[in-house]
Amino acid sequence: MRMEIETLYRQKFYITGRDFANAGNVSVQIKKILKEIGVKPDVVYRVSICCYEAEMNVVMYAFRGELDFQITDKAVCIIINDEGPGIEDIELAMMEGYSTATAEIREMGFGAGLGLPNIKKNSDEFKLESIVSKGTKLIIKIYLN
Ligand SMILES: Nc1ncnc2c1ncn2[C@@H]1O[C@H](COP(=O)(O)OP(=O)(O)OP(=O)(O)O)[C@@H](O)[C@H]1O
Ligand SMILES: [Mg+2]
Repeated sequence: MRMEIETLYRQKFYITGRDFANAGNVSVQIKKILKEIGVKPDVVYRVSICCYEAEMNVVMYAFRGELDFQITDKAVCIIINDEGPGIEDIELAMMEGYSTATAEIREMGFGAGLGLPNIKKNSDEFKLESIVSKGTKLIIKIYLN
């Protein structure tokens, strides 16, 4: 049996904190690539939700972030590393309805505290790590089959 994972596609994207004008663009690009490659619609849908929520969190809470997008023969893998305040209590941040969004962010329609729980629901593998005052790392995998 062949054990190594084959990478079929890989691209890096950059996300700028507070850049609401371009917020969501990375997710749109990733969705387009997946559709072009012919990935199943339900996988495209789930990746899009995860990407969008993760991208918005970087825009809303961090200074900048790097998103590593990879398609292997088994899964779509997304790793987002950001430089920012980090998350003090990950368990709390994962709870539905918990949000530290400012009034300004809430006025834009965000801050329901549903992003992270939604990412977890829509992914097959989910890992969130953070160092306060440094940044946050989110690893998401969505299986192709
Ligand atoms: N990349 C990040 N850096 C720092 N804090 C974060 C980051 N992502 C999430 N958080 C913290 O975790 C909380 C919960 O995040 P989550 O995405 O679930 O909800 P939200 O962004 O507040 O609202 P919504 O996603 O529904 O618009 C945030 O309010 C914020 O305090
Ligand atoms: Mg969010």
